[in-house]
Amino acid sequence: MDNTSKPELNMEKIVSLARRRGFIFPSSDIYGGLSSCWDYGPLGVEMKRNVKDAWWRAMVHNRDDVVGLDCAIIMHPKVWEASGHIAGFSDPLVDCMDCKQRFRADLLEGDNCPSCGGKLTAPRQFNLMFRTFIGPVEDQASIAYLRPETAQGIFVNFANVLSTTRKKLPFGIAQTGKSFRNEITTGNFIFRSREFEQMEIEFFVKPGDDEEWFKYWVNERLNWFIGIGIQSRNLRLRQHRQDELAHYAKGCYDIEYLFPMGWSELEGIANRADFDLKQHSRCSGVDLTYFDEEAKEHITPYVIEPSSGVDRTVLALLCDAYSEEPDKDEIRTVLRLHPRIAPFKVAVLPLSRKEPVVTVARQVHSRLRQCFAVSYDDAQSIGRRYRRQDEIGTPYCITIDFDSLEDNSVTIRDRDSMRQLRIPIEKLTPVLQAKLSGEAFEVLPDGGKHWLGF
Ligand code: GAP
Repeated sequence: MDNTSKPELNMEKIVSLARRRGFIFPSSDIYGGLSSCWDYGPLGVEMKRNVKDAWWRAMVHNRDDVVGLDCAIIMHPKVWEASGHIAGFSDPLVDCMDCKQRFRADLLEGDNCPSCGGKLTAPRQFNLMFRTFIGPVEDQASIAYLRPETAQGIFVNFANVLSTTRKKLPFGIAQTGKSFRNEITTGNFIFRSREFEQMEIEFFVKPGDDEEWFKYWVNERLNWFIGIGIQSRNLRLRQHRQDELAHYAKGCYDIEYLFPMGWSELEGIANRADFDLKQHSRCSGVDLTYFDEEAKEHITPYVIEPSSGVDRTVLALLCDAYSEEPDKDEIRTVLRLHPRIAPFKVAVLPLSRKEPVVTVARQVHSRLRQCFAVSYDDAQSIGRRYRRQDEIGTPYCITIDFDSLEDNSVTIRDRDSMRQLRIPIEKLTPVLQAKLSGEAFEVLPDGGKHWLGF
């Protein structure tokens, strides 16, 4: 049941919680931070790994038609010539002649500076790729780029993967990893940063089958977000207009999430047709066709590309899970994260720091940590410890008390309902396993879904 109130969830609340509890810090914090770069703390790194693991499991391990790849961030500069990034991966930039601030011309309303009303320069194209040099000499011949997307690593490895796996169409290649863009407009926390992580699949199909697979992947990806606990009422699809399509795309849908700043892109699913394989084949001189056994001819496959951001997914999950609700005279802050995504699945909370309670608590802790990510907390009152675990989204808390020594049982408390059950210690692992793996959803009156605990 969704009995939470979300009074004007603003980004500040998420930023503050993320920092306070060790999910996300500003990069280089002790030097005042670095614009649009972020560090993931002890809880954030767990959550991020859970997102990537959930994606990899669903998109690679649980499928027969997708294999993985992990390629270098720095690639041959010719890759970016062929892909069109050197010529076209740019945003129109304008400067305010008075306050000197910079803006993306395509995002401005009106002709003047949105900050001070001053006059703006004419737009000039600003390439978003970070440049560096390979080797000790910094000249034209040694220029290299940090990749702005993981996708190109997949295209240039198409022949390698095809010959080593002997995959038949349709099949996909998946990759997760860092990408870098020298964004002009940043902000909204980790929504748009200069260094971020992507999760991308290039799914190769026979030309003519592309429209069907395009629809399939749009649905598949939408359902994946719902499966990791995002409420469907906060997700929507937006089809790109012809005039906003990227240079390579025949069609594109964005999966948008209702972030505190409004509906914004979480993932793009594009039909890239045969643009990339043809370009790389032409520029490298290497044949990147596929031999179609049925038609007995070489074809260049079409590509459907579901391209997602890890950081944006983490942000959507935090926003979606955040809730404040009255509890006696206080407000309880709870992260109602899906258990698969929560940094810790269980917390072990001994009611005393003395023996023999501590020994039993330690035994329970070491038994549980063989199966789950477990937190152990013995500091302060039990009420405060529950609040701390609620705030970081731990689905279950286990308390060990003096009775536990007599009856070999412990109390298990559910984060969302706050209900408590007494269960024998030997049943703890199977009970938690069942609860944590359960796809227990309740459908809300407006069609949204909400994960259920007890
Ligand atoms: N290969 C296609 C591609 O990169 P994109 O729409 O530019 O397409 C895909 O990026 C996803 O990567 C976005 O939907 C978003 O989740 C994430 N992303 C892109 N730029 C980002 C940025 N500056 N900061 C955080 N995430 C970003």
